[in-house]
Amino acid sequence: MKVIVTGGAGFIGANFLNQLVPALPEHHFVNVDKLTYAANLGSLQAIDSLPNYDLRRVDITDRDAVDAVFEEFDPDLVVHFAAESHVDRSILGPREFIRTNIEGTFNLLEACRSRWSRDDSRLFHHVSTDEVYGSLGDTGLFEETTAYDPSSPYSASKAASDHIVRAYHRTYGLPIKITNCSNNYGPMQFPEKLIPLMILNALERKALPIYGQGLNVRDWLYVTDHCDAIWTVIQKGSVGRTYNIGGNNEMRNIDVVDTLCKIVAEETGVDPGELLGLKQFVTDRPGHDLRYAIDATRIKEECGWEPKETFDTGIRKTVQWYLSNQDWVSDVRSGDYRKWMDLNYGDRTG
Ligand code: NAD
Ligand code: DAU
Repeated sequence: MKVIVTGGAGFIGANFLNQLVPALPEHHFVNVDKLTYAANLGSLQAIDSLPNYDLRRVDITDRDAVDAVFEEFDPDLVVHFAAESHVDRSILGPREFIRTNIEGTFNLLEACRSRWSRDDSRLFHHVSTDEVYGSLGDTGLFEETTAYDPSSPYSASKAASDHIVRAYHRTYGLPIKITNCSNNYGPMQFPEKLIPLMILNALERKALPIYGQGLNVRDWLYVTDHCDAIWTVIQKGSVGRTYNIGGNNEMRNIDVVDTLCKIVAEETGVDPGELLGLKQFVTDRPGHDLRYAIDATRIKEECGWEPKETFDTGIRKTVQWYLSNQDWVSDVRSGDYRKWMDLNYGDRTG
């Protein structure tokens, strides 16, 4: 089987390829990635010389480039991770989110439609987010039937892409599946996201910026459990259907940060009080969703998927990974990263 994986140099895509490329030598994987600031080829070192892996630097907003890579590889399966993924960046600059997440997805769908509409031996798997459902109050869970109500330019662009993917199935018979997952954490996540940002800032004794009062709740899932879930849905899910994925690990941000301070302190032999003292409450994110929580009954019952990691096991592995991979960390914390930190946090801390 020939598989195009878009966005395979990013956090989840790279974890997905690192799991599957060595395990499935009879499958050929092509990583189609623009290599934006969020990509890191260092995340792919373990697989980049394997014979069943190729990389093509392609911007999915470029229709001709997308067509060329489809002509070259004629995929049976497309697993679509590529996206602008960070909510705060979408607030400060939404244009790239509209282009990549909506137009880019549209270009991939057109490439599939022109080659394999109604051919159920092929599949377009769209990787999406629970943020399309908006915000929950203190109770309730997101189900696959929950109405879309996105709050940020990021989540609105992902919601639009989900609708277009579903429309291609209903209108053109394109074989598709969609997964909507909660917050991922784990190795190789770019340190703009809460968990790696807090680990690395704690190691450097920098402020730990907590939006608002830190009372927003996220459901955390270890990244390899998300990758397993996607592969399971590809194998066992029904065409045209949507599956929610979650870790059943709801936590307030303040509790996540406290836990990280304690684990970083234990792993490095420092006083936890010193790290906890770095916490700083800063101006809240505009449109900040209060709570995300997932009902994952459908994927459990129809596909037999369950997460393997608890938050306790996953978060310790994550801290240990960042401690043992300082080269990866210094690669991503380039000049552009420093500019982002000044732009996003500069005005918030006063
Ligand atoms: P990421 O930001 O770490 O990686 C995104 C990748 O996409 C990068 O390699 C980047 O170079 C590539 N990319 C961006 N624009 C591109 C373009 N125009 N053409 C080709 N490649 C492009 O993202 P991630 O956290 O790995 O998320 C992957 C997918 O999973 C996204 O679709 C995201 O919406 C979804 N998702 C993420 C989470 C999470 O917690 N991170 C949770 C649920 C769903
Ligand atoms: O729910 C799935 C989504 O999870 C994915 O679709 C997104 O791609 C991914 O970025 C993530 O979105 P969040 O906005 O939830 O993740 P982030 O790591 O940016 O923030 C997690 C929580 O922590 C959120 O409530 C905001 C808060 N936060 C974040 C940062 C970066 C802080 O308090 N301080 C920070 O510095």
